[in-house]
Formats: sequence, C-alpha cells, structure tokens
Amino acid sequence: MKTLRIGIIGMGNMGSDHAKKLAQGTVPEVILTAVSENDGQRLAASRSYLPDTVGFFASPHEMMDSGLCDAVIIATPHYDHPELAIAAFSKGLHVLCEKPAGVYTKQVRAMNDKARDSGVVFGMMFNQRTNPLYRKMHDMIQGGELGAIKRVNWIITDWYRTQAYYDSGSWRATWAGEGGGVLINQCPHNIDLLQWICGMPTKVRAFCHEGKWHDIEVEDDVTAYLEFENGSTGVFVTTTGDLPGTNRLEITLEFGKLVCENNTLTLHKLSQSERQYCYESKDGFAQPTVDVSHVPVEGDNSQHMGVIQSFANSVLDGTALIADGEEGIRSLMLSNAMHLSSWLGETVDLPIDEEVFLRELEKKIEASNARVTNK
Ligand SMILES: NC(=O)c1ccc[n+]([C@@H]2O[C@H](COP(=O)([O-])OP(=O)(O)OC[C@H]3O[C@@H](n4cnc5c(N)ncnc54)[C@H](O)[C@@H]3O)[C@@H](O)[C@H]2O)c1
Repeated sequence: MKTLRIGIIGMGNMGSDHAKKLAQGTVPEVILTAVSENDGQRLAASRSYLPDTVGFFASPHEMMDSGLCDAVIIATPHYDHPELAIAAFSKGLHVLCEKPAGVYTKQVRAMNDKARDSGVVFGMMFNQRTNPLYRKMHDMIQGGELGAIKRVNWIITDWYRTQAYYDSGSWRATWAGEGGGVLINQCPHNIDLLQWICGMPTKVRAFCHEGKWHDIEVEDDVTAYLEFENGSTGVFVTTTGDLPGTNRLEITLEFGKLVCENNTLTLHKLSQSERQYCYESKDGFAQPTVDVSHVPVEGDNSQHMGVIQSFANSVLDGTALIADGEEGIRSLMLSNAMHLSSWLGETVDLPIDEEVFLRELEKKIEASNARVTNK
C-alpha cells in the first residue's frame, strides 16, 4: 500500500486530536512522522502520548525541512494558516489546512496561487461535509429534483461556549489573534455547507453583536439576511450564547421543503410545483397535497479522519478532495461579507471588495484592547 508521511503543525486541541488518531493507525494510508509546536510545554506533553518514531520540532520550518514529511496538517491559530501553507507549498509539501483557511480572502487567494504554482495538493478541513445528511441535501438540491431554491433558513445556535472557553487561549476571541468570533471560529463549517448546498449569495446584510453574551471583543451573536442570484433569500442566525441551542437547516424549493434537524432529514414533497399551482389554481385557499417522509441517507460520518483519508488518496492517487483550497476562499468570502456588512451598516455585494474588508479589519485590530498578535 502506498503511504503518505504527514507532519502536524500546532499541537493544541485539534492538532493533538488528529495526531493521536493518526498515531493509532486510524487512516491506514497515513503515517504520522512529525509534529511541531512552538509552546515548549505542549511539545513536551505530546511526547508522552505519541510514539518515539515521531519527530518533535519546536519550529514548523525545521519540521518542514527535516525530510520527514510529504504533507502537513496546519492546526494553528487562523492568522498563521496562510503563511505556514505558503511556506509548505514552496518546499513542495502538500497541505491540509484547518478551517478557516485564513482571516481574509486576499491571504487565501495567495495560498491558492502558490499551491497551483507548486503543483501540490491543497485541501481544507471542512469535516462536516462528510455528514451523510448534508451530502444528501447537497445532492438533492444541486441535482435539481426539487426545482429552484426559494428560501433558506439556518438557525445554528448550538455552538454554546462558556467564558472559560474564551479565556483558555490569549489568541481567542480577539481581532488581532483570531480575526473574529463565532463567524470565524465555529461557523466556517456551516458557512461552507451553506454555500456548498445552496451556492453563493450575491448580497448580504448582517448584524453582528460583539461581546453580547461573553466578555470578549468579537461577535458572539449574528443575524444575516442573504439574497441569491435567482431571487431566493435566506437568513443565517448563529451565536455561542444560546442554551439550549438549535441546529435547523430548512430549505424551501419549488417542489417542497427539506428540513435537517435533530440528525434527521425530512422531505415535505408537494404533488406539483408551487409556482405552477399558484397561477393555475382557481381556489384562493387551495394547496397541493404534501407528502412528508424521512429521507434515508447512506454512509458513515467519518468527519476529520474521512477528510484526512480523502486528502491522502488525492495525493497518492489523484482522486478528488472533499474540499479543496478554492472552497476556503468561498466560505471565507461569505463570512467576511457578513462582518463587513455589519461594520459598514449596509448591504454588501459579493464578491466583496477585499481591500475595504482588510482596511476595516485593521481598524478593529488597532482599536483592540487585546495584547496578543498572531497577525
Ligand atoms: N475542524 C474542526 O472541527 C476544528 C475544531 C477546533 C478547532 N479547529 C481549528 O484548528 C485550529 C487550531 O485550533 P485549536 O482549538 O486547536 O487551538 P489551540 O490554541 O488549542 O491550538 C493551537 C496550537 O498551535 C500552536 N502554534 C501556534 N503557532 C504555531 C506555529 N507557528 N508553529 C507551531 N505551533 C504553533 C499553539 O501553541 C497551540 O498549541 C484553528 O484553525 C481552529 O479553527 C478546527
């Protein structure tokens, strides 16, 4: 069997979790050969749970130059992702990057350009794309069997976090260290799924409330209104402050409605197109019949290890990734648009003006009270 030698950069929550699973042989095609962590205590701790065969490095650049890795997984704070990825591409290493790809799209565009020039594989860790429920929604909607989308509502408020979570790392929930709050940390998955399933909106008007439920300077409560090219509209609501939270993705189309909630996908199927019925019916209060059913889904929800498996297969055999680096631009463009709309207090068109976004982000960083700078 062909194998891929992977090194991990950043041995915090996510990097250490990936490392432990890979060291156990969870993905047979992948051998964990090295890790790097610039916090001495965390690096020392990782020696206690990883085998001696792994190389341990304080510097990611030394790890990348060691000859031990064919590819790296980047699991550091967000601002570092582009710089580390570009360094890896320059050394001919393949990269699987934790979400989000970066904090602003200009950075991520540079990552994609460098990956293309280097001829290596650039994948994104959008692990919720392995969820069979979302895969089924994507296939049904993009396949067109339910007609055009009319409305999208996603209430995704089950990202509850306590103050202790925000206090657990000095980079967290700061403009300088993290580049945003719930939109940039928890929601990249949902925003990626939204654009993957429904396509990119063309206009966004958002309201981001900063430090509404926690003692933080970034947003922890967001309501965004979206408009799509075909005239359909959407609302995206998220927070880390609701308890209990909700995760309900509801998409209304010409031939019915799909609802994903409580790990179930429900189809409300109309006997005919609503658009046609609306104009053909002679009865002002009539409705077509609706058949309600649970949609069967197939496959495991392999999450992070599934994304790493597909990344390895892509490098070794040229197969398709679950999400490539370009997807990192699209999801970030949408989250940047939500931020920008709220900061400017107006509706923004997509693609947004990347320079304006960067200028506004820099103003937030300058006004920040946080001492940390990962930028
Ligand atoms: N896909 C998911 O489900 C998921 C879940 C949680 C976090 N994440 C993402 O993973 C990334 C890390 O988040 P986390 O929660 O693990 O953060 P964390 O703070 O727990 O870990 C980050 C680690 O990176 C280290 N680090 C920083 N710069 C470094 C560098 N240049 N070289 C080597 N090490 C460096 C830090 O010392 C720290 O140990 C973020 O992008 C986050 O959004 C993804």
